[in-house]
Amino acid sequence: MDRTLTLLGIESSCDDTAAAVVRLQPGLAPQILSSEVLGQTNLHEAFGGVVPEIAARAHAERLDGIVELALEKAGTGLGDLDGIAVTAGPGLIGGVLSGVMLARGLAAATGLPLVPVNHLAGHALTPRLTDGVEFPYLMLLVSGGHCQFLLVEAVDRFRRLGGTIDDAPGEAFDKTAKLLALPQPGGPVVEVEASQGDPRRFRFPRPLLDREGCDMSFSGLKTALLRARDTIIAEKGGITVQDRRDLCAGFQAAVAEVLAVKTARALALAGDGLQALAVAGGVAANGVIRAGLETVAAKAGVPFLAPPLRLCTDNAAMIAWAGIERLRANLPRDPNFVARPRWPLDDRAQAMLGSGKKGAKA
Ligand code: KG4
Ligand code: ZN
Repeated sequence: MDRTLTLLGIESSCDDTAAAVVRLQPGLAPQILSSEVLGQTNLHEAFGGVVPEIAARAHAERLDGIVELALEKAGTGLGDLDGIAVTAGPGLIGGVLSGVMLARGLAAATGLPLVPVNHLAGHALTPRLTDGVEFPYLMLLVSGGHCQFLLVEAVDRFRRLGGTIDDAPGEAFDKTAKLLALPQPGGPVVEVEASQGDPRRFRFPRPLLDREGCDMSFSGLKTALLRARDTIIAEKGGITVQDRRDLCAGFQAAVAEVLAVKTARALALAGDGLQALAVAGGVAANGVIRAGLETVAAKAGVPFLAPPLRLCTDNAAMIAWAGIERLRANLPRDPNFVARPRWPLDDRAQAMLGSGKKGAKA
């Protein structure tokens, strides 16, 4: 398709209410005209995880405003748009429905094409928005709710090479922080603590490394950490600051090693012609994990791509972009699409039935 496409994207599948406007002009790099994200951490803090009903209500209350803000910041009116893209799943169904209903209303009122987008496809296609990478490439999605290897072969062709069979790594970081009385979200604090700790003092398990393929498991790690913590408490009556740092360092080293080893296997499974290894998700912010992945990519001779964090974590620019990709590829749009709590990108892969704190995993 050889015309300019300007799309509004809407995202509300978890605990971020987001809207964005992205434009693609022929011959130019795509432009993010605006990308607004309103988090809900404070609403769920007291409950130790995302409460679906609270999330859905907050999305319903905030979506109108954030869409208006995104349009205003982009300097576009509804009349300047060529389409509306909305996350239609997977995710917490109440939130997904809030976004879908708003998008349906806007599309009906304006006559604009409505493009339902799979949230995971949004993450997976982001390196094309930020770096213009060609197919095929390998995407490692690591966040509080996702953990999977996707071989991205085309706008609508993804092969799931493996993923977690239980917790996502971000969840493991958050639970580790909780066990050590550190604040949420756990990832950034655990990383800081770990930087001052000795990763060799506690040797935590590297789950599933002995098993072929690139499936992973992270739930056993927190049990090991809990046991190590309790052993110290039993011996000394409490844990010192240094104990805590060493526990964090040991835990982070285990996660980093599992991700690096499994990524090397996924790269080997992906075959020849791979254009890049890309990462997305909040956990990709972790310096030690990132360094491990960079090394693995360098060894395999593929470029390593890590989009800026604001585009790695949940946002609506990735949804608008996925909409643009689908429109310009002339992919069919089902006008009767429904919001879906589960929606695996790769229909051929077995469903993963983790029950993470951030809701259903695809
Ligand atoms: O992608 P994201 O913002 O949200 C979803 O999970 O959808 O990822 C958030 C997760 C949290 O679990 C957080 O603890 C983790 O990413 N995280 C980190 C770091 N920064 C955020 N994990 C490890 N190291 C970090 N520096
Ligand atoms: Zn996400």
